[in-house]
Amino acid sequence: MPIHPPTIAEALRYAQTRLAAASPTPQLDAAVLLSYVVARSRALLLAHSDRSLSAAQWQAFMDLVARRVNLEPIAYLVGEREFYGLPFFVDARVLVPRPETELLVERALAWITSQPAERPLVVVDLGTGSGCIAIALAYHAPRCRVYGLDLSPAALAVAERNVARHQLGERVTLLHSDGFAALPEAVDLVVSNPPYTLLDEIDEGVRRHEPHLALDGGPDGLAAYRELLPAAAKIVCQTQPGAVLLEIGAWQGEDVAALARSIFAAASVAVLPDLAGHDRVVEVLIGGRGA
Ligand SMILES: C[S@@+](CC[C@H](N)C(=O)[O-])C[C@H]1O[C@@H](n2cnc3c(N)ncnc32)[C@H](O)[C@@H]1O
Repeated sequence: MPIHPPTIAEALRYAQTRLAAASPTPQLDAAVLLSYVVARSRALLLAHSDRSLSAAQWQAFMDLVARRVNLEPIAYLVGEREFYGLPFFVDARVLVPRPETELLVERALAWITSQPAERPLVVVDLGTGSGCIAIALAYHAPRCRVYGLDLSPAALAVAERNVARHQLGERVTLLHSDGFAALPEAVDLVVSNPPYTLLDEIDEGVRRHEPHLALDGGPDGLAAYRELLPAAAKIVCQTQPGAVLLEIGAWQGEDVAALARSIFAAASVAVLPDLAGHDRVVEVLIGGRGA
């Protein structure tokens, strides 16, 4: 390790070596973290790689590298993750938004578009976490009012910050809620990325740093769906077309679709794959086929 504050090139070399065992992308991680510390783009870093860091920058960078060696997600270290084209503040109080969850937003927007333009729509995002789904929907579908519910007050504080950042406070309402308990009205669309993983089978970095309340799907990963689906049937408006869209684990398509069919007997239920070809969303269309 360099004793005096090193140049940018030396700092990057030091970090890449330290990160090699912890990350599949040590070079990228080192560049992202250093770029964050010096508040300059990665391109500028490379263009000025012979410049020395200040002592404070070097210390801050070493601290972040040590946290990354301990498998902390990059998004927590830099306090941000992009989702559906929008930036979100994130920290250890919320799950890091995942790219595969964008399919849920895409299908929700397709369903919203399939409804008559003059129909105002009410949406609920159960387990809103950072607020990424609720905010992306409100941002892209101005006719929607969206409720974001979460059992974790800490997660709701993060979501609040993101709602304010995107100036959507008039159409996104965040509520502390166990399931749909605090929801004050019927909705047209339910979306949820509930906890569905088996804690002893997930990546070590995820298990160590991301909130277990956001991850733990119980002994078979299906606990949240068993509670959520019958409850959703009670809060989806019955007089007009409605939809329930749920993210699932790649192995859960058949089980969650069967649960959905047992509860929404007259609905059209489909399992949809993500870009990698893995089952990712169960779509329940009530009262007529949507998009
Ligand atoms: C998989 S995370 C999804 C977070 C965010 N929607 C996303 O897609 O990145 C699940 C979220 O559900 C919340 N949650 C877990 N159990 C809940 C419950 N019984 N009622 C409401 N929210 C719950 C967790 O706190 C967590 O924020």
